[in-house]
Amino acid sequence: MNEELNQPSCLGAVISCFRYSTRFVILFKNIVVKIPLNKKGFLQGYNEQKIWNKYQNKAPLANLNWMFLGIVCQKRYTTIKEVPQSEVHKIKKLIPEFDFENCDFWNYENWGKDGQKYILLDYGNSPYVASLYK
Ligand SMILES: Nc1ncnc2c1ncn2[C@@H]1O[C@H](COP(=O)(O)OP(=O)(O)OP(=O)(O)O)[C@@H](O)[C@H]1O
Ligand SMILES: [Mg+2]
Repeated sequence: MNEELNQPSCLGAVISCFRYSTRFVILFKNIVVKIPLNKKGFLQGYNEQKIWNKYQNKAPLANLNWMFLGIVCQKRYTTIKEVPQSEVHKIKKLIPEFDFENCDFWNYENWGKDGQKYILLDYGNSPYVASLYK
């Protein structure tokens, strides 16, 4: 069941969380902003824009609002604790660019949900990006 949030107008309610690894991810109430922290994060932003432009109507990708100098703004989705393998197979079929080893789409942390629909949140990976470092 959907729960309606009460909306206190303080900053803490708007910016609920930060995450960082290759990008500093700020989770706002309805959007997320991903700021690159290194070359890998920067290239991820550009790849996301490219994949979004090409496949936004074909594959379940997190809605990309804008990308500027590697900084990405996306719609925020509910995060999940596991992703069915069938979803990963499906998106790899839809997007040939994702058909490479070490692609990281098996990781549930890169997925979210919009209602009952699984959505890929982190789609900036490529063979070159994956090779940069671990
Ligand atoms: N659109 C979104 N909605 C909700 N949460 C998100 C969204 N995008 C990212 N997140 C959260 O932020 C985390 C990091 O985002 P993302 O994977 O895109 O960044 P990253 O820098 O590429 O991280 P990594 O290198 O670890 O994959 C995700 O695992 C997820 O928990
Ligand atoms: Mg990720």
